Amino acid sequence: MNMQRTAVLVKPDGLQRGLIGEIISRFERKGLKLVGMKMIQMSDEMLSDWYAEHKDKSFFNDLKEFMAELPIIAMVWEGIDAVMVVRRLVGTTLGREAEGGSIRGDFGMSQQYNLIHASAKEEDAKREIAIVFNSNELFSYHSVIDSVIYAQYEVKECS
Ligand code: CMP
Repeated sequence: MNMQRTAVLVKPDGLQRGLIGEIISRFERKGLKLVGMKMIQMSDEMLSDWYAEHKDKSFFNDLKEFMAELPIIAMVWEGIDAVMVVRRLVGTTLGREAEGGSIRGDFGMSQQYNLIHASAKEEDAKREIAIVFNSNELFSYHSVIDSVIYAQYEVKECS
């Protein structure tokens, strides 16, 4: 159990489909805390860093081109075990196989057009957050609902 921050991108297809509000709403309702958000058009350089693990894959250039074509919404969400929680809400990569109830399962059919990116591991989250956000664009704040989202012992165990 660990208080974590994780990176989320609403990809160009999510923007085109008008799903930004729906996606934000799902994370909010879950009890995650939004600690950073911006709309940007990612450069080829940013995307090469972001997708470094895919640099030898056949789809690398297509993926970067698609991601650079339109603005994306970048967000940082915070919570206990947030990396795993967000990945579960997002669902598996291939939309048509993703579990119903997940974002990709409910709204997507494609592999490339899978609406959203979520960090896979805590170290990826740290690297990805640093690609898009400066430290003064990330916020720590008390939310009035914190005390009904977690029990005190859960917060204590994470501090
Ligand atoms: P994501 O898991 O967020 O990060 C890597 C992305 O590459 C993945 O989402 C898909 O959007 C994309 N992707 C994965 N496999 C393929 C593929 N075979 N062809 C095109 N794009 C892919």
